[in-house]
Amino acid sequence: MRGDPKLDALRLDKGFSVDRRSFLHSAALSAIALSAPVVARSAKTTASQKILVLGGTNFLGPAIVEAALSGGHEVTLFNRGVTRPQLFPGTEKLRGDRRNGVHGLSALGRGRTWDAVIDVWPADTSMVEASAKLLAERAEYYFFVSSIAVYRSFARPWVDESAELRLRESGYGGEKARAERIVSTLYPERHGVARCPSIFGPRDPGSSLHYWLRNFYRNDEVLAPGAGDDPVQFVDVRDVARWIVDSAVQKRAGIYNTAAPPIRFADFLNMSRIATESDAKLVWVPKDFLYSQDVEAFTQLPMWIPVNEDPGFFQISAKLAHDEGFETRPPQRTLTAAWRWYQSAFFDDTIFPHNGWGMSNEMQVQLLSSWHDTQKRGD
Ligand SMILES: NC(=O)c1ccc[n+]([C@@H]2O[C@H](COP(=O)([O-])OP(=O)(O)OC[C@H]3O[C@@H](n4cnc5c(N)ncnc54)[C@H](OP(=O)(O)O)[C@@H]3O)[C@@H](O)[C@H]2O)c1
Repeated sequence: MRGDPKLDALRLDKGFSVDRRSFLHSAALSAIALSAPVVARSAKTTASQKILVLGGTNFLGPAIVEAALSGGHEVTLFNRGVTRPQLFPGTEKLRGDRRNGVHGLSALGRGRTWDAVIDVWPADTSMVEASAKLLAERAEYYFFVSSIAVYRSFARPWVDESAELRLRESGYGGEKARAERIVSTLYPERHGVARCPSIFGPRDPGSSLHYWLRNFYRNDEVLAPGAGDDPVQFVDVRDVARWIVDSAVQKRAGIYNTAAPPIRFADFLNMSRIATESDAKLVWVPKDFLYSQDVEAFTQLPMWIPVNEDPGFFQISAKLAHDEGFETRPPQRTLTAAWRWYQSAFFDDTIFPHNGWGMSNEMQVQLLSSWHDTQKRGD
């Protein structure tokens, strides 16, 4: 059975297996990692730290590793060696499969200690429990990457960290919520959690942003839903990675929503158009017309939710993190960098549009034609 599409969109894999990547693709990704721009050092503690990254080779993980390496830290990666094993050639790599519980973690060795662990990837409480327990005496600090999917309701805007969680629910949000709870129990006052909204930027394997960028690149007219004033919110992968590494280095304790400020949907689309250097025309089609044609918000028009439906989903409060110095770059830079990535030789366009986000080009053309007819008739 399909879960809540909005929560599914926050998953790590967004519906496709990273295992399908080819060797060539992986090798190309290594090249990108090696030439990645240097991320700013932490302003406070600059002493080199030993950081264990659980995961590290898909999307957010590489951005974290890059931020840590450029901060002069000593990084150890732990994963199966399936996803882009060529990334970060000079970095220590330990292998194991977290699906095998504590047995899968044997490469973490008994005598090893780390200043900080960054657990990037799982939405599986038992995997997080196994590693958090194993390392509780050997790591000073544990950071867990979570999601806004932990929140039970988005019925009100400005959901903050104190909002009710899906602790008793199955699925992605519930697993993340319970994993957070385990980490905070095992590492009281020495754990960090980032609750991320949609993450965009280089290496994004998801298709929701890609839908809009590709649409502008390929078409003369793009169907723009609503009136342009619905909010949309995301975070740049490099900004959240820098915050995570800084938290690990500073041993910043606490749970934080790590979202950039929301922007208007009209601005999001205009920035997407600028990113792709497109002169496509935006055709704004009202919500009521779209719904009369059985168009689904969010799934068929990615990242679009009319503000009166789930107003909190794209209006998460990240005040706590911002007050502690969490900085986000202008969204135009995120969209432009994402488009460069999608256009690079390293990106495999064949995975789209098979993973279910966005409408087909034919459907868009048909809807635009019906809308133009309606306008002509003056309905
Ligand atoms: N994308 C979004 O919009 C979004 C939104 C909100 C939150 N988030 C959260 O952000 C994180 C993003 O994850 P990511 O994929 O980018 O992380 P990542 O650390 O870049 O990649 C996943 C890592 O997990 C490893 N892995 C997979 N299966 C494993 C296993 N059984 N045992 C050991 N290691 C395994 C993979 O390597 P191998 O395959 O080689 O093992 C890979 O290194 C997730 O926590 C996600 O929930 C994402």
